Amino acid sequence: MSRRSKKGKALGFGHQGRILSSGVYKREAVRRRINGNSLQVSLLKRPRRSPLVEKYNVAKYDLRRGYEFPEHLHDLIPSGTPEYIDHGERYVERISRALYYFKQCALIGPSGTGKTHVVYIVAEIHGLPLWEINCGLQTSTYDLFGRYIGLGKENWIDGQITSWLRNGGILYLDEANMMKQDIAARLNPILDTRGHLVLTEKDNEIVKRHPCGYVIIAMNPFSSEFVGTKPLNAAFRRRMAVWINFTYLSVGDDISKDEIGLIQSRGKVDEDTAYRIVRVGAELRRQYLSGDLPYGPSPGDLINWAVLISDGMTPQAAAEETIITMTSDNIEVQEAVRRVVRMNFA
Ligand SMILES: Nc1ncnc2c1ncn2[C@@H]1O[C@H](COP(=O)(O)OP(=O)(O)OP(=O)(O)O)[C@@H](O)[C@H]1O
Ligand SMILES: [Mg+2]
Repeated sequence: MSRRSKKGKALGFGHQGRILSSGVYKREAVRRRINGNSLQVSLLKRPRRSPLVEKYNVAKYDLRRGYEFPEHLHDLIPSGTPEYIDHGERYVERISRALYYFKQCALIGPSGTGKTHVVYIVAEIHGLPLWEINCGLQTSTYDLFGRYIGLGKENWIDGQITSWLRNGGILYLDEANMMKQDIAARLNPILDTRGHLVLTEKDNEIVKRHPCGYVIIAMNPFSSEFVGTKPLNAAFRRRMAVWINFTYLSVGDDISKDEIGLIQSRGKVDEDTAYRIVRVGAELRRQYLSGDLPYGPSPGDLINWAVLISDGMTPQAAAEETIITMTSDNIEVQEAVRRVVRMNFA
């Protein structure tokens, strides 16, 4: 369900390694003298444009189109998202473009390739509230669309999707191919040119999609390894104009310098150790993609391994607590991972 933060804290994507100081708000105090009395008003102001706009080359795609989200939604705008490393795929730019022209897009790729991370950074860059729903969880239609609370029909509470329709921002549907049919069917009129929801629960109220209401769906490719995945509902698939494929930064012998830099800076290890870690990760991913392992490690998993090494553990001992056990409970599979670690940290 939603990653709504504690009151007063902006939404943040998890950090491995370094904890960044969060918050992009700027405090502005205004002092006035009125009839001899001094009045001070303190305002928390969000800068109008993120400095990341230039960095990720998305100035062309203004997704807010001048709209300022009201104060009570600022908690839902991510802040302090760690840097997103790109291998020339320009994911942030491609997603921004898809949302700008079509209002919605689909991200597809194996676990750990950075789909969730990129959604957070896109929301932060454009200053958009993020409404996150994991479709794999048994979330009730009440939570998604809303319900009356109490005895009578006085107190209606909007669900996540209804709130997003009314307020705008990015509706992020993770594991979209695990969505239940009845929910998918209700989303269809929202995602096509009709752009509205009929709240049958609330005397058929018609809720229109906010002009700054965007949708991103994400999923793992349909395959036997991802337990529970199924092909995406066909009507749903047709409504997505743009599909963006995600791959690992490094696989097999193709080692990304940027990923080494990422492990080095966020894991606080030297370049040689970072290189070896990425070599291990790339080999495990190769084996995973060819069906020999049940999981390929994400950059986040490799950062966790590096953090323990930088704390003084040996690479082997740190690997036992991280990537070896993470890959599988199966002892034979763990031994296969251990072998790859040993080959690179002799
Ligand atoms: N390109 C990248 N740059 C920086 N960090 C990355 C990148 N790709 C992945 N990561 C890191 O790897 C970890 C996993 O990424 P994320 O959760 O976004 O993957 P995902 O594709 O959403 O996986 P899943 O399908 O399991 O939900 C996170 O810690 C994320 O910060
Ligand atoms: Mg994810």
